[in-house]
Amino acid sequence: MTPTRSPDILELLANDPQLRVDRDDYNYNVTYTAGSELDPGQAEASLQGFTCEQEALHLYFHVPLCSYICHYCNFVKRLIPEGDETNALTQWTDLLIEESNRYLRRCEWLRQARVESVYLGGGTAALLLNVPEAANRLFAHIRDNYPLSTDCEITMEGNPDNFGADNVRLAMDLGANRFSMGVQSLQDEVNEFANRGHSSELTVAAIGNLGETGRPFNVDMIYGQPRQSAESFSADIERLIDLGVPTVTMYRLRNNDRQALAIGNRAVWNNENVRQRLIAEGAFPSLEDTYRMRMAGVDVLLGREYWPAPACWWSAPGTYDEGLPHLSKSKWERYDSMVAFGPGAYGWVNSGDEHGLVQIHNLGNIGQYANHMSTEDSLPISFGRRITGVRAVAATLAFNFKANQPMSLQRYADQFGVNLLNDEPFAGAIEAMLGHGYVERSDDGADLIPTLLGEALHEEIISCYLHSLE
Ligand SMILES: C[S@@+](CC[C@H](N)C(=O)[O-])C[C@H]1O[C@@H](n2cnc3c(N)ncnc32)[C@H](O)[C@@H]1O
Ligand code: SF4
Repeated sequence: MTPTRSPDILELLANDPQLRVDRDDYNYNVTYTAGSELDPGQAEASLQGFTCEQEALHLYFHVPLCSYICHYCNFVKRLIPEGDETNALTQWTDLLIEESNRYLRRCEWLRQARVESVYLGGGTAALLLNVPEAANRLFAHIRDNYPLSTDCEITMEGNPDNFGADNVRLAMDLGANRFSMGVQSLQDEVNEFANRGHSSELTVAAIGNLGETGRPFNVDMIYGQPRQSAESFSADIERLIDLGVPTVTMYRLRNNDRQALAIGNRAVWNNENVRQRLIAEGAFPSLEDTYRMRMAGVDVLLGREYWPAPACWWSAPGTYDEGLPHLSKSKWERYDSMVAFGPGAYGWVNSGDEHGLVQIHNLGNIGQYANHMSTEDSLPISFGRRITGVRAVAATLAFNFKANQPMSLQRYADQFGVNLLNDEPFAGAIEAMLGHGYVERSDDGADLIPTLLGEALHEEIISCYLHSLE
């Protein structure tokens, strides 16, 4: 029977304390960080030598521009200077097309691949819709150069202020067939404090515009933000469901000091005076408060029959034919290759066996990326990483678990020649995950199935149980 209540995350942490990550340390993502580093030349050579005939492939384009900068933002982006929107968006369209052309010239295999998804993200990719000439050129470049599958999923990511009726229509005319919109909160005081540039009223209007397309779309929400509570967060989720949002993504606030880590801007609430004031007011949620928000949100979602696939993406029944978006099925469940363009973008080519995969990480500094593109003719790669053997299996298991899809024992035997239940180091990790109830055996014993308990802290579980395998 389908559970109707969220697992108790605080009890889970008491049983498995290594999964506890406090508010100001939290900055998880599921990028695999072990494996041998490749310099840009070696990474480029690996890409050139790769073959991918008729294999599924995904494309990601990173538009690193925003019309406001949110305090918590972890992504590579730059504020568009006032009055310079057309110019800046045209320039970045040119750079993305030029990078893609460099790939196309080097990697013959790209023209034989089967592109199953294209994701335009950022930053704020939907700002492109404000400059139709630029948006048109990027879409035409993609259509003219890549073999898109007939049901290729093309996602446009943006904010409520980008999804007015005209922009949504333009995106559909250009070929977008899925949308992702960052909302974060429906409480104006929460979003104002985070420096979001849209009201909840505008958000509701944008949801209406996206709903009218009849296409799937998702709304991103962040829990654990200053001035949020379990009551207000779960009321937000309820409202989104009432408005007919097909997929709701819930992220825990990553509050690790991004400025100190050189990966983003500093949140105003991480300045000592502001932080102390918020804590004194009881307005800066603790780890326990943060998880109470998630649990309250999950109770609402389960009560309305939403289900998370991949982990933390909750979809209404019937939203996707196979239960999850193309991008997630291929990217997370199957770990198909993904080529990513733009500053800070990261992709990988995957041979799908013990020979493993090569990650490609682009230059993350926007100025360095732009400079590289104008002064060099190589790919704007910062470094690569080769992941083979046990690590390739571990990285694949981690993605499969993140997909929140059955992990077929036969698949790992066929793909890597390993028996997950008998061969170390996998057997010990799987036994521990079964023991804690993060996965369970299917009735026929053929699969390991991630549970809602495993979903709740999947990033921490991936880090402690899977990425650590050597
Ligand atoms: C590529 S980002 C931004 C997309 C879009 N520009 C926007 O602001 O909605 C995608 C999502 O990552 C999430 N995100 C960004 N920074 C985060 C952080 N520090 N902690 C948790 N989630 C974050 C937000 O939910 C955001 O919508
Ligand atoms: S959250 Fe979105 S709009 Fe805000 S700074 Fe980050 S990418 Fe830009």
